[in-house]
Amino acid sequence: MTTRSAFLTGAAIDLVVLTEADAVLTHHWFNDQETARYLGRYGRPMIESDAASYYKAAATDTSRIVLGIFHKEQQVLIGTIGLHDIDHLNQTAELGIVVGVHEERGKGVGTEAITLLAQHAFQRLNLRNLTLRVLGGNTRAYRCYQRLGFVETGRLTEHLFRESTWVDEILMRLHREDLSLTEAGATERRIAHLVEKSQD
Ligand SMILES: CC(C)(COP(=O)(O)OP(=O)(O)OC[C@H]1O[C@@H](n2cnc3c(N)ncnc32)[C@H](O)[C@@H]1OP(=O)(O)O)[C@@H](O)C(=O)NCCC(=O)NCCS
Repeated sequence: MTTRSAFLTGAAIDLVVLTEADAVLTHHWFNDQETARYLGRYGRPMIESDAASYYKAAATDTSRIVLGIFHKEQQVLIGTIGLHDIDHLNQTAELGIVVGVHEERGKGVGTEAITLLAQHAFQRLNLRNLTLRVLGGNTRAYRCYQRLGFVETGRLTEHLFRESTWVDEILMRLHREDLSLTEAGATERRIAHLVEKSQD
Protein backbone atom coordinates (compact mmCIF):
# COMPACT_ATOMS: atom_id res chain seq x y z
CA MET A 1 0.00 0.00 0.00
CA THR A 2 1.30 3.41 -0.92
CA THR A 3 2.05 6.02 1.72
CA ARG A 4 1.19 8.75 -0.78
CA SER A 5 -2.01 10.17 -2.14
CA ALA A 6 -2.15 8.49 -5.55
CA PHE A 7 -3.88 10.46 -8.28
CA LEU A 8 -3.24 7.84 -10.97
CA THR A 9 -2.40 4.24 -10.09
CA GLY A 10 -0.08 2.06 -12.15
CA ALA A 11 1.69 -1.30 -11.80
CA ALA A 12 5.15 -0.32 -10.56
CA ILE A 13 4.51 3.38 -10.00
CA ASP A 14 1.77 5.74 -8.91
CA LEU A 15 1.44 9.35 -10.01
CA VAL A 16 1.01 11.22 -6.74
CA VAL A 17 0.02 14.69 -5.66
CA LEU A 18 3.11 16.80 -4.97
CA THR A 19 3.29 19.04 -1.92
CA GLU A 20 5.64 21.86 -1.02
CA ALA A 21 7.52 19.42 1.25
CA ASP A 22 8.58 17.37 -1.80
CA ALA A 23 10.72 20.26 -3.02
CA VAL A 24 13.41 19.22 -0.50
CA LEU A 25 14.08 16.19 -2.69
CA THR A 26 12.96 17.19 -6.18
CA HIS A 27 14.87 20.47 -6.54
CA HIS A 28 18.16 18.53 -6.52
CA TRP A 29 17.19 16.78 -9.77
CA PHE A 30 17.01 20.12 -11.60
CA ASN A 31 20.47 21.14 -10.36
CA ASP A 32 22.00 17.87 -11.55
CA GLN A 33 23.67 18.97 -14.78
CA GLU A 34 23.47 15.46 -16.26
CA THR A 35 19.69 15.85 -16.08
CA ALA A 36 19.34 19.62 -16.56
CA ARG A 37 21.05 19.50 -19.97
CA TYR A 38 17.96 17.72 -21.33
CA LEU A 39 15.46 20.18 -19.87
CA GLY A 40 14.06 23.52 -20.95
CA ARG A 41 15.20 24.95 -17.65
CA TYR A 42 18.96 24.89 -18.17
CA GLY A 43 21.86 27.02 -17.00
CA ARG A 44 20.18 28.41 -13.89
CA PRO A 45 20.13 26.95 -10.40
CA MET A 46 16.87 25.84 -8.80
CA ILE A 47 16.37 26.69 -5.14
CA GLU A 48 14.14 24.63 -2.89
CA SER A 49 11.67 27.46 -2.27
CA ASP A 50 11.22 27.94 -6.05
CA ALA A 51 10.20 24.33 -6.42
CA ALA A 52 7.90 24.56 -3.38
CA SER A 53 6.17 27.68 -4.73
CA TYR A 54 5.78 25.97 -8.09
CA TYR A 55 3.98 22.96 -6.59
CA LYS A 56 1.77 25.23 -4.48
CA ALA A 57 0.79 27.36 -7.49
CA ALA A 58 0.25 24.30 -9.70
CA ALA A 59 -2.34 22.91 -7.25
CA THR A 60 -4.79 25.70 -8.14
CA ASP A 61 -3.72 26.38 -11.74
CA THR A 62 -6.15 24.75 -14.18
CA SER A 63 -3.70 25.10 -17.08
CA ARG A 64 -1.34 22.49 -15.65
CA ILE A 65 -1.19 19.22 -13.75
CA VAL A 66 2.07 18.40 -11.99
CA LEU A 67 2.53 15.01 -10.32
CA GLY A 68 5.24 13.00 -8.63
CA ILE A 69 6.36 9.59 -9.94
CA PHE A 70 6.29 7.35 -6.87
CA HIS A 71 8.04 3.97 -6.88
CA LYS A 72 5.57 1.64 -5.16
CA GLU A 73 8.00 -1.09 -4.10
CA GLN A 74 10.67 1.30 -2.79
CA GLN A 75 8.10 3.81 -1.47
CA VAL A 76 10.07 6.78 -2.77
CA LEU A 77 9.58 9.61 -5.17
CA ILE A 78 11.78 9.10 -8.24
CA GLY A 79 10.59 11.76 -10.66
CA THR A 80 8.01 14.27 -11.75
CA ILE A 81 5.68 14.49 -14.73
CA GLY A 82 3.29 17.16 -15.88
CA LEU A 83 0.86 18.49 -18.44
CA HIS A 84 1.51 22.16 -19.16
CA ASP A 85 -0.40 24.80 -21.13
CA ILE A 86 -3.58 22.71 -21.05
CA ASP A 87 -5.72 24.25 -23.80
CA HIS A 88 -9.33 23.03 -23.85
CA LEU A 89 -10.26 24.95 -27.01
CA ASN A 90 -7.60 23.26 -29.11
CA GLN A 91 -7.59 20.13 -26.91
CA THR A 92 -3.82 20.10 -26.43
CA ALA A 93 -1.25 20.13 -23.66
CA GLU A 94 2.53 19.87 -23.49
CA LEU A 95 4.02 16.96 -21.62
CA GLY A 96 7.16 17.19 -19.51
CA ILE A 97 8.85 14.42 -17.53
CA VAL A 98 11.94 13.86 -15.40
CA VAL A 99 13.00 10.56 -13.85
CA GLY A 100 15.35 12.23 -11.37
CA VAL A 101 16.92 9.06 -9.93
CA HIS A 102 19.48 7.89 -12.53
CA GLU A 103 19.31 4.23 -11.46
CA GLU A 104 15.59 4.11 -12.27
CA ARG A 105 16.01 5.18 -15.89
CA GLY A 106 15.71 2.70 -18.73
CA LYS A 107 13.47 0.36 -16.69
CA GLY A 108 10.09 1.34 -18.10
CA VAL A 109 9.19 4.00 -15.52
CA GLY A 110 8.93 6.79 -18.10
CA THR A 111 6.81 4.61 -20.37
CA GLU A 112 4.39 3.74 -17.58
CA ALA A 113 4.17 7.30 -16.22
CA ILE A 114 3.46 8.78 -19.65
CA THR A 115 0.89 6.08 -20.42
CA LEU A 116 -0.98 6.86 -17.18
CA LEU A 117 -0.97 10.61 -17.75
CA ALA A 118 -1.84 10.28 -21.47
CA GLN A 119 -4.84 8.08 -20.57
CA HIS A 120 -5.97 10.74 -18.10
CA ALA A 121 -5.48 13.51 -20.66
CA PHE A 122 -7.43 11.75 -23.40
CA GLN A 123 -10.10 9.87 -21.45
CA ARG A 124 -10.89 12.36 -18.68
CA LEU A 125 -9.73 15.80 -19.82
CA ASN A 126 -10.91 15.13 -23.39
CA LEU A 127 -7.65 16.35 -24.90
CA ARG A 128 -6.87 15.36 -28.49
CA ASN A 129 -3.13 15.82 -28.82
CA LEU A 130 -0.16 15.86 -26.46
CA THR A 131 3.01 17.57 -27.61
CA LEU A 132 6.51 17.62 -26.25
CA ARG A 133 9.96 18.96 -27.07
CA VAL A 134 13.06 16.83 -26.87
CA LEU A 135 16.72 17.54 -27.55
CA GLY A 136 18.45 15.90 -30.49
CA GLY A 137 20.79 13.33 -28.97
CA ASN A 138 18.48 12.45 -26.07
CA THR A 139 18.11 8.97 -27.56
CA ARG A 140 16.55 7.33 -24.53
CA ALA A 141 13.81 9.96 -24.31
CA TYR A 142 13.20 9.95 -28.07
CA ARG A 143 12.93 6.17 -28.15
CA CYS A 144 10.62 6.13 -25.16
CA TYR A 145 8.29 8.67 -26.79
CA GLN A 146 8.42 6.99 -30.20
CA ARG A 147 7.51 3.61 -28.74
CA LEU A 148 4.55 5.23 -26.99
CA GLY A 149 3.19 6.51 -30.30
CA PHE A 150 4.61 10.04 -30.43
CA VAL A 151 5.65 11.10 -33.92
CA GLU A 152 8.17 13.75 -34.88
CA THR A 153 6.31 16.77 -36.29
CA GLY A 154 9.13 19.28 -36.60
CA ARG A 155 12.74 20.01 -35.87
CA LEU A 156 14.47 23.30 -35.12
CA THR A 157 17.99 22.53 -36.24
CA GLU A 158 20.89 23.59 -34.01
CA HIS A 159 18.44 25.65 -31.98
CA LEU A 160 19.61 25.11 -28.40
CA PHE A 161 23.03 25.61 -26.80
CA ARG A 162 24.01 22.73 -24.55
CA GLU A 163 27.41 21.80 -23.13
CA SER A 164 29.29 23.99 -25.64
CA THR A 165 27.44 22.77 -28.75
CA TRP A 166 24.30 23.60 -30.70
CA VAL A 167 21.70 20.85 -30.73
CA ASP A 168 18.35 20.31 -32.47
CA GLU A 169 15.06 20.80 -30.69
CA ILE A 170 12.60 18.13 -31.86
CA LEU A 171 8.85 18.61 -31.63
CA MET A 172 6.74 15.47 -31.15
CA ARG A 173 3.01 14.82 -30.94
CA LEU A 174 0.81 11.99 -29.66
CA HIS A 175 -2.74 11.88 -31.04
CA ARG A 176 -5.37 10.26 -28.85
CA GLU A 177 -6.21 7.73 -31.56
CA ASP A 178 -2.76 6.22 -30.97
CA LEU A 179 -3.47 5.46 -27.31
CA SER A 180 -4.62 1.86 -27.83
CA LEU A 181 -1.29 1.04 -29.50
CA THR A 182 0.44 2.78 -26.63
CA GLU A 183 -1.30 0.73 -23.96
CA ALA A 184 -0.53 -2.59 -25.66
CA GLY A 185 3.15 -1.74 -26.12
CA ALA A 186 3.54 -0.48 -22.57
CA THR A 187 2.03 -3.61 -21.07
CA GLU A 188 4.33 -5.89 -23.08
CA ARG A 189 7.40 -3.92 -22.03
CA ARG A 190 6.34 -3.91 -18.38
CA ILE A 191 5.85 -7.71 -18.38
CA ALA A 192 9.22 -8.23 -20.11
CA HIS A 193 10.91 -6.03 -17.52
CA LEU A 194 9.27 -7.87 -14.59
CA VAL A 195 10.33 -11.25 -16.04
CA GLU A 196 13.90 -9.98 -16.50
CA LYS A 197 13.93 -8.66 -12.92
CA SER A 198 12.66 -11.95 -11.48
CA GLN A 199 15.56 -13.77 -13.19
CA ASP A 200 18.25 -11.53 -11.60
C1 LIG B 1 13.54 10.45 -20.72
C2 LIG B 1 13.01 9.67 -19.53
C3 LIG B 1 11.80 10.37 -18.95
C4 LIG B 1 12.57 8.28 -20.03
O1 LIG B 1 12.13 7.53 -18.93
P1 LIG B 1 12.74 6.05 -18.72
O2 LIG B 1 12.08 5.47 -17.55
O3 LIG B 1 14.22 6.16 -18.65
O4 LIG B 1 12.29 5.39 -20.09
P2 LIG B 1 11.84 3.88 -20.38
O5 LIG B 1 12.71 2.95 -19.63
O6 LIG B 1 10.37 3.76 -20.18
O7 LIG B 1 12.11 3.80 -21.95
C5 LIG B 1 13.36 4.17 -22.47
C6 LIG B 1 13.58 3.56 -23.82
O8 LIG B 1 14.88 3.90 -24.25
C7 LIG B 1 15.68 2.71 -24.28
N1 LIG B 1 16.96 3.12 -23.74
C8 LIG B 1 17.37 3.08 -22.46
N2 LIG B 1 18.60 3.57 -22.38
C9 LIG B 1 18.96 3.97 -23.61
C10 LIG B 1 20.10 4.57 -24.18
N3 LIG B 1 21.15 4.91 -23.41
N4 LIG B 1 20.10 4.86 -25.49
C11 LIG B 1 19.05 4.53 -26.26
N5 LIG B 1 17.93 3.96 -25.80
C12 LIG B 1 17.89 3.68 -24.49
C13 LIG B 1 14.96 1.69 -23.46
O9 LIG B 1 15.32 0.40 -23.87
C14 LIG B 1 13.54 2.06 -23.80
O10 LIG B 1 13.19 1.67 -25.10
P3 LIG B 1 12.31 0.38 -25.40
O11 LIG B 1 10.98 0.65 -24.79
O12 LIG B 1 12.30 0.35 -26.88
O13 LIG B 1 13.04 -0.77 -24.75
C15 LIG B 1 14.11 9.50 -18.42
O14 LIG B 1 15.16 8.71 -18.93
C16 LIG B 1 14.65 10.83 -17.92
O15 LIG B 1 14.04 11.48 -17.09
N6 LIG B 1 15.82 11.25 -18.43
C17 LIG B 1 16.47 12.49 -17.98
C18 LIG B 1 15.64 13.75 -18.20
C19 LIG B 1 15.01 13.79 -19.57
O16 LIG B 1 15.64 13.51 -20.58
N7 LIG B 1 13.72 14.18 -19.58
C20 LIG B 1 12.97 14.29 -20.81
C21 LIG B 1 13.18 15.58 -21.46
S1 LIG B 1 12.31 15.70 -23.02
